[in-house]
Amino acid sequence: MKPLAPGPKKAARLALLIGVLLALYALAVAKHEERQRIRDQAVTLTPGCADKLARYGLVAGATYVSPYTLARSGQAIVRQGYSDEDVRAIQRGCNIIDDLQGQLAADPARERWNATRFVRGTHTSCDHCHQGIGDKQTADGVPQPGSLSLAASWVMADMYDQFTGILLPYELRQMQCYINSSNGFKPNIADDLIRDVTAYGRFLAAALDLRFGNRYQEQGIDEVTASSTLKRGDDYVRGGALFRDRCARCHGPQGLGTVVDGKVLFPAVAGPNAFNLQSRNNFSFVSTILPGFICRNMPPGEEGSLSNQDCRDIAFYVSNLPRPAGDKQGPLAALWQQLMMRVMPPLIRTVESWQRPAEPGGSGT
Ligand code: HEC
Ligand code: HEC
Repeated sequence: MKPLAPGPKKAARLALLIGVLLALYALAVAKHEERQRIRDQAVTLTPGCADKLARYGLVAGATYVSPYTLARSGQAIVRQGYSDEDVRAIQRGCNIIDDLQGQLAADPARERWNATRFVRGTHTSCDHCHQGIGDKQTADGVPQPGSLSLAASWVMADMYDQFTGILLPYELRQMQCYINSSNGFKPNIADDLIRDVTAYGRFLAAALDLRFGNRYQEQGIDEVTASSTLKRGDDYVRGGALFRDRCARCHGPQGLGTVVDGKVLFPAVAGPNAFNLQSRNNFSFVSTILPGFICRNMPPGEEGSLSNQDCRDIAFYVSNLPRPAGDKQGPLAALWQQLMMRVMPPLIRTVESWQRPAEPGGSGT
């Protein structure tokens, strides 16, 4: 409290405040310009997206005719075309679905809008569940029922959510997946990530000639209810045996996934990199979705080879493997799951290494 000149001191404070505000403003402008630069930049497609978008004939122009629809129906349906800016948004959206965390990108953070800030683990990519880059088809181009199609889901934009009963637009449904399926955090509804994926979903719907407001069988999951099984309940032990037989060679004996050279070959279905307890994919939260996913989509190339009962048993087993708690389950559940995720895998490995010498060649069913 110096008695010295209150005037200059006040002025200095004011100058400091104005300085800070100007710096913040400059930062905001710089960030804004950086985003615009990324939007204007040519997009390097992942191999999967290069294939898919070429097959659907995505180029800028006044009109758009889908080669896919033309080949299948013999009819050239002329739609409004895409600007260069639209094309880049669709391309970035496809890249995000195929490779959310930028493992195939030269500059992961910039090319994927810093998507890793919305995901806790290192495995998640949307394509793991929304297979075929959100557009799974047979070799001769037939969309697959229950394959979580992002195109069929776009034409149902603004759909009542069957669990919450709330009217959820496409953007909010994407956000749910960041929180639970990716075990992460929710992007802003107008985030570039969300906008680009929406542009991609919309383009797919046009390329496949899906009609707005219609329900298609490739939308969502073809759920496996308990009543569609042998009605003998869900069997953990049988599920475990089936998992070791049909799934473990890719997803690992404890479901922790397979990573080679920093790239996720087979995603984790349990442990810290997997979807969390609150994901719709998790059996104990909604018991019909994970078995539906497994029956329709797994093992890749052998889809449909498991019975409904098999899928329920496997889903029940998988969901009992330790995984992160969801955001609404509180700190105790979170702590418990963390403990289980750290203790169980090494414990099981140790016990199994004791058992192995006693049963020569005794794996399998
Ligand atoms: C672990 C699996 C999984 C991952 C990873 C995942 N999703 Fe999903 N997604 C689901 C399930 C399950 C549903 C709900 C399906 C239902 O309710 O029938 C869903 C629903 C959606 C829907 C609404 C679809 C509809 O038809 O209702 C959108 C959009 C979506 N996800 C986008 C994304 C995006 C974008 C990503 C990547 C950031 C992503 N998802 C990652 C499993 C996943
Ligand atoms: C040949 C290897 C292979 C086998 C066998 C296999 N999967 Fe997968 N699984 C994958 C791949 C690859 C993905 C990622 C999807 C994609 O990229 O198409 C995946 C994705 C998944 C997912 C969703 C991804 C996520 O983040 O959770 C689940 C759940 C899953 N598999 C369960 C199973 C179950 C259960 C079995 C056994 C019936 C099984 N898988 C067998 C390769 C395999």
